[in-house]
Amino acid sequence: MSVMRAAITAVSSYLPDYVLTNKELETMVDTTDEWIVSRSGIKERRIMKDPAKATAFMASEAAKNLLKKRGISALDIEVIILATVTPDYQFPATANIVSDLIGATHAWSFDLQAACSSFIYALDVGSKLIESGKYKKIMVIGADKMSSIIDYTDRSTCILFGDAAGAVLLEPTTEDVGVMDTKMYSDGAGRKYLYQVAGGSLNPASAETVALRQHFVKMEGQPVFKVAVIKMADVAEEMMTRNHLKPGDVAWLVPHQANKRIIEATAQRMGVGMEKVMLNIEKYANTTSATLPLCLDEWEHQLKKGDNLVLTTFGAGFTWGAIYLKWAYNSK
Ligand SMILES: CC(C)(COP(=O)(O)OP(=O)(O)OC[C@H]1O[C@@H](n2cnc3c(N)ncnc32)[C@H](O)[C@@H]1OP(=O)(O)O)[C@@H](O)C(=O)NCCC(=O)NCCS
Repeated sequence: MSVMRAAITAVSSYLPDYVLTNKELETMVDTTDEWIVSRSGIKERRIMKDPAKATAFMASEAAKNLLKKRGISALDIEVIILATVTPDYQFPATANIVSDLIGATHAWSFDLQAACSSFIYALDVGSKLIESGKYKKIMVIGADKMSSIIDYTDRSTCILFGDAAGAVLLEPTTEDVGVMDTKMYSDGAGRKYLYQVAGGSLNPASAETVALRQHFVKMEGQPVFKVAVIKMADVAEEMMTRNHLKPGDVAWLVPHQANKRIIEATAQRMGVGMEKVMLNIEKYANTTSATLPLCLDEWEHQLKKGDNLVLTTFGAGFTWGAIYLKWAYNSK
């Protein structure tokens, strides 16, 4: 009996036009282009300047593009999973808004939040829904307007993030392609190193929380870096070992783009050369939930059916994970 797997059958993305360069950041905080490039690999990032447009807008633009590329109607979509840490509202779910904006009236939809691992978690969940046999078309979207929670007076965080959205379509296949294996982790003991202090039920918004700038991302970079560099490499290596993949079997490493040094350490542990790594951190910085689909969309034209891809992430929580998938189509 043939195994049914979930295959990515289309990919798309959306990037806001405004480019925030390191040079411009030099005019905003005490930093230099040289410091940012050498410590993180980032040269510029995109920012959604229009205050009326947020995560749902970017996600729905990526979703509309996805439907167009696959040549299907929004009415064909059965489930929308939106990975995000910057929902338009605390509730309703931003995925509900996206389904309305694109006219996916037959779909049920929900948000999934696991910080920078949100998309990889969502891809795992979406794959399992496909494998259950109940659904044939699931949209998994990653979108974040990070500029809405970044403190542009805090040089330790404002250099690191950008805004974007990306989306993939999951469909069932009985061919030897698609999502082959997944492994997710989390450890809430890491929460104190990277989080948004206020705005949740513990510290609801008040004049005081606003005055203390507690609605912005707070990070202790070094402890996060130390754990990230180990865990992202660990899980990528585990994924290779579990699936008997040798370095030469891996066509592409698709890593979360938080810091170029973390990516290089992961590639090195896997024994994979940097020419096989999807790397666009210099242009877009860390786009949180959008990062992985943004990479897949940018490299889509180079991907061939049967290529072995290892996707891997690390994020606040802490959360981390990896997915091994075989690419399911040759792009036209
Ligand atoms: C943020 C990060 C790039 C900082 O790099 P780093 O080498 O760890 O730098 P440090 O935080 O140790 O800071 C070193 C010095 O640079 C200073 N510094 C911090 N930000 C700076 C900036 N934008 N420009 C110039 N100097 C800066 C610090 O104040 C510190 O100065 P001090 O030594 O006088 O105290 C790095 O820690 C990192 O990438 N962390 C993990 C990010 C991540 O993975 N996020 C989670 C996934 S979402």
